[in-house]
Amino acid sequence: MSAAGAGHGKVILLGEHVVVYGHPALAAGLAQGAHAQVEAARATSFQVEPWGVDISLDTEQDDPDRELLRRALRALLAGWPQATRAQPLRIRAEVAIPAGAGLGGSAALGVAVARAVDRFFDTQHADQAIADAVFPWEKVFHGNPSGVDNTLAAFGGVALFQKGQPLQMGRMRRSLKLVVGHSGEAASTKTTVANVARQRERDPEKVEQIFEAVASLVRNAALAVEDGRLEHLGELMDLNQQLLGSLMLSTPRLEELCAAARNAGAYGAKLTGGGGGGCMIALVDEERGDPVLRALEDQGSQAFLTEVGP
Ligand code: PMV
Repeated sequence: MSAAGAGHGKVILLGEHVVVYGHPALAAGLAQGAHAQVEAARATSFQVEPWGVDISLDTEQDDPDRELLRRALRALLAGWPQATRAQPLRIRAEVAIPAGAGLGGSAALGVAVARAVDRFFDTQHADQAIADAVFPWEKVFHGNPSGVDNTLAAFGGVALFQKGQPLQMGRMRRSLKLVVGHSGEAASTKTTVANVARQRERDPEKVEQIFEAVASLVRNAALAVEDGRLEHLGELMDLNQQLLGSLMLSTPRLEELCAAARNAGAYGAKLTGGGGGGCMIALVDEERGDPVLRALEDQGSQAFLTEVGP
């Protein structure tokens, strides 16, 4: 017997970093993400493509990334004790989004595995329970994650996420079109989250003011999404990008890509996810999608057009 599961990648439309401190973020699940398949085996193993990973749950790994993955899997399977005691599993997964790009690749993978394991044991977890089961996995990778990645990876759609509160799904009239562009710069969310924490320790008042400003952009953006006001949403994204810049989360390369997207007609553009590299997003519509995509590719960015929505 075997079972399969899938998880969405995600983009944060607005509100990354402030979400770590309990403010809301507006996030969207991508059609792209990860798939996993599980079947009964003698010992639990985990294969991930295209990363070329093939590890055993019981063997400590020399490679630090693989060891992290093993520990994450252990944390996730703690939610299904039968998987480690009575019934070991062969888990095979495929990730279709770049890692370390701010697109929630690890959460998509975790949710795909959790869904497959849930179906294998017929434990019938709802989306929220799946998201919760993946949180310990995300902690292994990200230190102090807000929970937005694993939640959106499980639910998809567009939603307002706030730590410790039920996810508020957006009521949208139409889907949103985005161009996602990779800066080509490696980024570590763990590092940028720690940098923001340091700035907040040093100057709590100033950083809290920036957080409040971002939070109000996020709330306005949620309304703009509901009403389909793309121009307004784009402006809010641009403002969010400026505030992210003031927290030193942007890079010259990300600024260059955002400017290229805006010049090619994007309604707005900003980094998405942890920053310090990784990806940016540009808000487009039917007509503006291709010119913006081309403009980013002309800048040497690996970019793709995607749609998020109801
Ligand atoms: O880089 P990503 O896709 O893991 O997104 C990180 C978003 C942050 O708000 C910076 C951190 C978090 O845990 O929410």
